[in-house]
Amino acid sequence: MSNPTEPILVLGATGKTGRRVIARLTSAGLPVRAGSRSADPPFDWYDPTTWEPALDGVGAAYISYYPDLAAPGAVEATGKFARLAVAKGIRRLVLLAGRGEAEAERAEQAVRDSGADLTILRSTWFMQNFSEGDFLGQVLSGEVTLPAGDMLEPFVDADDIADVAVAALTEDGHVGALCELTGPRLVSFGEAIREIAAATGREICYAPVSVEEFAAAMAAQHVPQEAIEIFSFLFGEVLDGRNAHLTDGVTRALGRPPRDFREFARDAAAAGAWATTEGG
Ligand SMILES: NC(=O)c1ccc[n+]([C@@H]2O[C@H](COP(=O)([O-])OP(=O)(O)OC[C@H]3O[C@@H](n4cnc5c(N)ncnc54)[C@H](OP(=O)(O)O)[C@@H]3O)[C@@H](O)[C@H]2O)c1
Repeated sequence: MSNPTEPILVLGATGKTGRRVIARLTSAGLPVRAGSRSADPPFDWYDPTTWEPALDGVGAAYISYYPDLAAPGAVEATGKFARLAVAKGIRRLVLLAGRGEAEAERAEQAVRDSGADLTILRSTWFMQNFSEGDFLGQVLSGEVTLPAGDMLEPFVDADDIADVAVAALTEDGHVGALCELTGPRLVSFGEAIREIAAATGREICYAPVSVEEFAAAMAAQHVPQEAIEIFSFLFGEVLDGRNAHLTDGVTRALGRPPRDFREFARDAAAAGAWATTEGG
């Protein structure tokens, strides 16, 4: 266990998992340092001069890379960051990675090679991509057009990822673990949208498109080219069935089952994730 008086650095601090990790650590009374471009001191993956000030005096770190471990430069950056942390005496690191991605596995290895006391969270698609991520706009528009066909995905709840991250950062027994995190059920993108429609009481449809149609639509919405390339890679290559199976990673780490998509959709709807100005 890291020294509980030293802050835990949480990268991606305002993002889907990072802000949940911070909320849990803070409510447990543990000191936290937020790590992102908007934090003080700022942390920027593309500006290594910001890394050392963010690491000064911390006892452990949660590493969520942005935009994706499959992006160019991610392996080098995460490896270099981990080596710097270990050189500064910060041994306990928890890395968020993506399931079924060779590049993410190279980043895992680069971080492992730092010699840190490492826990890897190898996660499947987050349920929250639909409620606070890149597909929220499509859900709100009533039509979700993604190049996902009828592929099954065991979507996982970011709250479960945060619970596992906090356990790994604060408890003994998780060092060296490779936690494959999935939800409890295989869900197609069409079913996911039907669950959200049922939870909100609104009409929302799912229309599968090709990767090329998806990329063109994203470009028309002025989504940055780097993001389009990552999505096209994830939909075009990773979403080929290789991840269409369940794991017991959440249960093994936490001693309880993961949350189901229906529960997520119900709670997110109740919290206003898909509320519209018309009150829908
Ligand atoms: N989403 C999924 O379904 C999924 C599944 C498996 C794995 N993952 C992995 O999870 C990680 C996060 O992905 P996400 O899409 O869910 O994002 P996210 O955590 O919701 O995203 C954004 C966070 O990154 C920060 N950020 C943005 N640019 C940054 C930069 N240049 N330097 C430092 N911080 C920066 C943002 O804060 P500021 O704007 O303040 O900088 C924010 O805190 C990725 O490595 C991804 O591979 C995601």
